[in-house]
Amino acid sequence: MAISRKGFSSRLGFVAAAAGSAVGLGNIWKFPYETAQNGGGAFLLLYLICVVLIGFPVMMGEISLGRATQTNPVGAYRKAAGPKWSWVGLIGVIGGMMILSFYNVVAGWAFGYFIEISFGSLLSEPDHGAFFGAYVANITDNLIFSMVFMVLTAVVVLRGIQGGIESASKLLMPLLFLILIGLIIYALTLPNAMAGISYYLLPDFSKIQLSTINSAMGQAFFSLSLGMGALITYGSYIPKDDNVTASASIVTLADTAVAFLAGLLMLPLVFSSGEPPEASGPGLVFTILPGIFHAMGPLVGRIVGGAFFLLLSVAALTSTISLLEVPVSYLVDDRKVGRKPAVIGIASIIFIIGLPSMLSFGAVDWLSDITYGGASHSFLDLINDVFSEVGLPLGGLIMSLLIVHRWGTNRMREELTNGNPAYPGSRVERFVRFTLTYISPVLLGFIFISNLMEKFFGISVF
Ligand code: TRP
Repeated sequence: MAISRKGFSSRLGFVAAAAGSAVGLGNIWKFPYETAQNGGGAFLLLYLICVVLIGFPVMMGEISLGRATQTNPVGAYRKAAGPKWSWVGLIGVIGGMMILSFYNVVAGWAFGYFIEISFGSLLSEPDHGAFFGAYVANITDNLIFSMVFMVLTAVVVLRGIQGGIESASKLLMPLLFLILIGLIIYALTLPNAMAGISYYLLPDFSKIQLSTINSAMGQAFFSLSLGMGALITYGSYIPKDDNVTASASIVTLADTAVAFLAGLLMLPLVFSSGEPPEASGPGLVFTILPGIFHAMGPLVGRIVGGAFFLLLSVAALTSTISLLEVPVSYLVDDRKVGRKPAVIGIASIIFIIGLPSMLSFGAVDWLSDITYGGASHSFLDLINDVFSEVGLPLGGLIMSLLIVHRWGTNRMREELTNGNPAYPGSRVERFVRFTLTYISPVLLGFIFISNLMEKFFGISVF
């Protein structure tokens, strides 16, 4: 079959772009503090189980649905499941916009830290925790850096799939990998690092609670970019003769490896700082790492610290690109809007939607202290809880039900056979078909309900 839309130039192009979407703040900023908060090894183990049993099969479903239908999530559900299901895609589009609205704020912090470490005096601050607190409450810096970030994202998306997304991903991802390894080696030499390693690698099963399972699942979906159609959209750009099974495996492995390494870096640092791991939160990488860079001396610290936050910003950028591409491809494919007005319009709207999240770390009191589920949260927390923790599992649930019961696992097999003639009857096929039919929907349904109850009503259902 001819390729009907302008897509990725090669398999490596898709893998790099999809891995770029997956690897981001979720891996390096979110995964370590969630692991620290949720009991270390037990969380890691549950996370890995979720990746294999739910993440990988849903990813295979999402990419094949995109490639088979050759269009954005709304059109994909319309074509594959029937017109009355297109709203599922629309919810994904809206969910992605909401996720991008707060993601862009955190990306702005990372970018701001790159500037402050490389060119400012951040490293010599006496108290990095206090600096971070003041930094995120500062309206001007946040406004500038998150705007810069949104503009960068828009520029890359404007250049289109091949020029922008591919080249941004291919070059810089391997560098991120290298700097992580270097920092891990350094971190392991610090006092008490080994206590962090055993907390991270030896599961303590008494730490597993329902909320641990919920967070592990939400994190797996967030990290793999699943549940809202980003990979349907990217899948629609893959050539028909590409091997989707191989690509999805590489993306899953790369994403999991980076998250694992980020944990291997951060947990020893937490233990060597003497802070209790349970007290970790969204400030973790911003408060602990500067101390390490400071200890490396003024010049080396500036270079290594600057490089780290620059690469973190790049990782975030390849993710924000994928989040913006979804609503843009919907407007372009389905509503016949030009690419340029679509990008500019959507990016501006998302930036505005993100303002309350930006102001919810002390800049505006009532946005910083919202009570639900029996605890105080920031507005950013609220959006994250609604759209990632609860929304993505719900998206994944509806998606696996529609793939299995409407589109059909036979069509999915047909699609996955393109580029991989050995797929039918293979072990991967049997695994994906079984988990997608029986395991993923049950677990996702369970997690959706219990997360909803726990987050918003403070009720533990099971
Ligand atoms: N996976 C990215 C990260 O870990 C974030 C992300 C990009 C995402 N695209 C997504 C999350 C789509 C959910 C859905 O940082």
